[in-house]
Amino acid sequence: MATVTFENVSKRYGDVVAVDDLNLDIRDAEFMVLVGPSGCGKTTSLRMVAGLEEITDGTLRIGDRIINDVPPKDRDIAMVFQSYALYPHMSIRDNLAFGLKLRKVPKVQIEARVKEAAAILDLSRYLDRKPRELSGGQRQRVALGRAIVREPAVFLMDEPLSNLDAKLRVETRANILRLHQRLNTTFVYVTHDQIEAMTMGTRIAVMNEGRLQQVGSPQELYDRPINRFVAGFIGSPSMNFSTVEVAGTGDSATLQGSSITVPLPPQFRESVGAVGRQLIVGFRPEHLVLGPVTGATASVNAKAEVVEYLGNEELIHASGAGRDIVAIVDSSYRVRPGDMLELRIPLDRIQLFDPDTNFALPFGPVTA
Ligand SMILES: Nc1ncnc2c1ncn2[C@@H]1O[C@H](COP(=O)(O)OP(=O)(O)OP(=O)(O)O)[C@@H](O)[C@H]1O
Ligand SMILES: [Mg+2]
Repeated sequence: MATVTFENVSKRYGDVVAVDDLNLDIRDAEFMVLVGPSGCGKTTSLRMVAGLEEITDGTLRIGDRIINDVPPKDRDIAMVFQSYALYPHMSIRDNLAFGLKLRKVPKVQIEARVKEAAAILDLSRYLDRKPRELSGGQRQRVALGRAIVREPAVFLMDEPLSNLDAKLRVETRANILRLHQRLNTTFVYVTHDQIEAMTMGTRIAVMNEGRLQQVGSPQELYDRPINRFVAGFIGSPSMNFSTVEVAGTGDSATLQGSSITVPLPPQFRESVGAVGRQLIVGFRPEHLVLGPVTGATASVNAKAEVVEYLGNEELIHASGAGRDIVAIVDSSYRVRPGDMLELRIPLDRIQLFDPDTNFALPFGPVTA
C-alpha cells in the first residue's frame, strides 16, 4: 500500500519557512496534485518525500513506514524533475536501463522492463537513438520512462511538462494520466498551473506561502473554495470580487454594492450576519449572463471596455461594481467596447467571503 502521509511537517531554511505545518493524506493510487504560486513550498514538499530534503519538524510516512530517516534509495519512489537531464552519450535504451544497472537488477529483468516502458510510452522505435536525435516531447517521455522502469510505489513529479510547448504539454498531460490509470500507482504531481491541476488531479492540494489552504476534488475546489485565495487561484480567468454591504432583513435582505445588487442567496441566510456588515461577493466570469435567466439573480451594471472574441464565446473586460469585471458570454451577443451591460448571476453561483479573515461564509441548507 502506497499512501503518503504528511503529519505536521515543516521545513525551515534559517528564517525562511518553506513549508509550514503540513498535514496531508495522499491515498493509495490517487493522483494528487500540489498546486500554488511560485515559492509556496511545492517542490520542497515533494523533495521531502523523495528524501532529497531533510524535514525540520513532523512525521512523513509512506504506507505505515515512517521515512523521516530512510535514505532516498530505500523509499521506493521515483522522481521526475522539470529539467530531465538525459545522458547525451548513451542510447535511449541505456538511459532507461541506467538506474536499474546501478541497482544491480538482473540483465533479463532490465531488458524486460525497458521494453515494457518503451511500449507504454511509445518509444520502442527510438531505443537505439541518442537523446539529441529525439524531439523535446520524446525526451520528456524518456525521463518518464526512467521513472517507470523502477516500478516504484510512488511517482513524484515536479513540473515535468514545463519545458514543453503548449500543444505537447496537452498531449503529454494525457499520456501521464493514461500512465496513472495503467500503473494504478500513487502519483504526487507538482505544478503552478491551475488548469493542469484541475485536469489531472484526483484531488488537489492548494498551497500558498508554505501553508496548505485546501484539499479536495477539482469540483470541490471550484464550487466551494474555502477562502479567497483558493477562490481566486482556481478557475481561469479568475473569480471576480466586489465589496457589498448587508441591507434589509428577512426576505427583503440584499447585499448592496456600487453597481451590484444581490438578493440574499438562500444558502447564506444563516451565515450572512447583521445589517451593515461588509462582505466580499465572488462570482466567476463564466457565470455572468447577458440576457434572460430563469430564477433569482444578482445583477451587475458594467461598461464594456475590451472585448476578446474567442469563437464560441467572448471575453469581456468591463468596469462596474467598483472595479474591473471579467465576463465570458456567448459570442452571439457581439458586445462592443462602450456598451452598457446588465449582467446577471444565478444566486446559487454566488460566493461570499469575510473581508477580515478571507474565509468563505459557510453554505447553509437551501430551503424555499
Ligand atoms: N535551499 C534553500 N534555502 C533557502 N530557501 C529556500 C531553499 N529552497 C527553497 N527555499 C525557499 O523556500 C520557499 C519554497 O520554495 P519551493 O521551491 O518549495 O517553492 P515552489 O512552490 O516549488 O515554487 P516554484 O513554483 O517557483 O517552483 C521559497 O520561498 C524558496 O525561496
Ligand atoms: Mg518548484
